[in-house]
Amino acid sequence: MPKFTSHIFVCCNRREPGHSRGCCDPEGSQALRDAFKTELKRRGLGPLVRANQAGCLDQCELGPTVVIYPQQVWYGHVQIEDVPRIVEETIVAGRVIEDLAIGDDLLNNCKGKMNKPM
Ligand code: FES
Repeated sequence: MPKFTSHIFVCCNRREPGHSRGCCDPEGSQALRDAFKTELKRRGLGPLVRANQAGCLDQCELGPTVVIYPQQVWYGHVQIEDVPRIVEETIVAGRVIEDLAIGDDLLNNCKGKMNKPM
């Protein structure tokens, strides 16, 4: 069996309402992870690319958060409608989507802001 080429880790952490850090999946639906799985399957990428449910990735204030390895690309404020372009641009074409990217200066730094309007 060939090795996986990418793992997409999708934060599905759920916290109680009103928590100071919020969370990436307040409904606990795992809908974002499921959207990645559906898109990977639709494109026939499933055998080589995995979309996995992750616990808190510690970028809660920038969530919903996704990290892709081995590319080491972090995305924040990811919505279901972003999934096809993440798969196309980052998984297939190897490009970083700037308006979703969490820059190195923002990782583990909750005070920063991203490019994507909220
Ligand atoms: S709850 Fe998703 S990064 Fe912390």
